[in-house]
Amino acid sequence: MKYPHLFEPIKLNGLELKNRIVFPAMGTGFTDMGHVTKVLIDYHVARVKGGCGLNITEACSVHGPSAPRDLLLQIWDDEFIPGFKELTKAIHCAGGKACLQLWQGGPSAGLADPNSLCVIPSDINA
Ligand SMILES: Cc1cc2nc3c(=O)[nH]c(=O)nc-3n(C[C@H](O)[C@H](O)[C@H](O)COP(=O)(O)O)c2cc1C
Repeated sequence: MKYPHLFEPIKLNGLELKNRIVFPAMGTGFTDMGHVTKVLIDYHVARVKGGCGLNITEACSVHGPSAPRDLLLQIWDDEFIPGFKELTKAIHCAGGKACLQLWQGGPSAGLADPNSLCVIPSDINA
């Protein structure tokens, strides 16, 4: 077998994964104004059941004014926490582990939503 350890558990600084298969961050469109939805939870649980040891959420905005409104997840306010708790619990119940991708989109936030504030470190045309 080419990758003999692929299906073996691994410990990452105390966090044990059931295997070394990681589901990468991928924007789904299954969000509602930045909140986790039932469809997003089902989507992640299906990937855990399909064999992923670690699921990474899609890009998750850390800053309200620059967050694309109706695209991707957001985590810049406590109002978003209950949805993430539900998502994490569902992933854990299915035997997986969850990882959150923190994101501030810089110029790309404006591409996703022209109304979002473009926050960049220098004065360039974005
Ligand atoms: C529809 C789609 C949405 C994606 N969304 C994100 C994202 O939110 N964050 C991120 O870091 N990468 C994102 N990616 C990149 C994927 O994580 C990347 O394609 C994946 O790691 C596979 O790597 P590869 O394309 O080099 O094979 C996205 C890719 C696709 C196709």
